[in-house]
Amino acid sequence: MKIVLIGGSGTIGSHVYKAFAADHDVIVASRRSMDYPVNIADSDSIQSLFEKTGPVDAVICIAGEAKWAAFDELSESDFYIGIKSKMMGQVNLVKIAKEYLKPTGSITLTTGILGEHPVPMTTSAALVNGAIHSFVLAFKQDFPQGPRVNVVAPGLVEDAYEKYKDYFPGHSPVPMDKVAEGYKTSVMGSQHGELIRIYEP
Ligand SMILES: NC(=O)c1ccc[n+]([C@@H]2O[C@H](COP(=O)([O-])OP(=O)(O)OC[C@H]3O[C@@H](n4cnc5c(N)ncnc54)[C@H](OP(=O)(O)O)[C@@H]3O)[C@@H](O)[C@H]2O)c1
Repeated sequence: MKIVLIGGSGTIGSHVYKAFAADHDVIVASRRSMDYPVNIADSDSIQSLFEKTGPVDAVICIAGEAKWAAFDELSESDFYIGIKSKMMGQVNLVKIAKEYLKPTGSITLTTGILGEHPVPMTTSAALVNGAIHSFVLAFKQDFPQGPRVNVVAPGLVEDAYEKYKDYFPGHSPVPMDKVAEGYKTSVMGSQHGELIRIYEP
């Protein structure tokens, strides 16, 4: 398969890259990539990426930002960071990437546990995750025959545990291999319009 992996240089993305790269042609894209630069918050740059890659079998996005802060500290423009990047960035990615998918292709987005189990300081990040969950369910209603679009929602992952553990008291870190399996389920399986949770519901 020819797979575009946006965010493949990141904490989660680099593990997902390893999980696919042995058997597939994986194109890693991100803002700082020399070969395949893309900023999902900018539709023109998404369009340029796919003009460069041509038709692909699968697209995986493990990228996108949202500001973490107490609600009273978040301005309206702070909320727009997440809305423009992690939310509309992934919606626009689906809009553009679906035109470059080969038949039976798939698009896999990323949210996180905060969409269902928020912790303090995450009104913006949780909002955006929840929106993408609803988007993926609704997308299937418009495209029941595909392209397949799913979202993987990891819990706090092992490799980010030390950095974020104080925000997630009582949470057990999710092994990196288990996270990568969630993306394999979406890409290699027949799931469509599904929220693939990598945490206990
Ligand atoms: N870490 C966790 O425990 C965890 C748990 C659940 C969900 N998540 C979610 O998973 C996603 C990835 O998390 P992570 O911890 O792997 O993050 P990370 O280590 O910061 O990596 C982010 C990756 O995305 C790329 N990126 C960031 N913004 C981008 C943009 N606007 N356009 C294109 N590429 C962009 C980065 O590369 P460049 O800087 O080169 O663009 C990098 O490759 C995030 O949405 C995060 O909310 C993370």
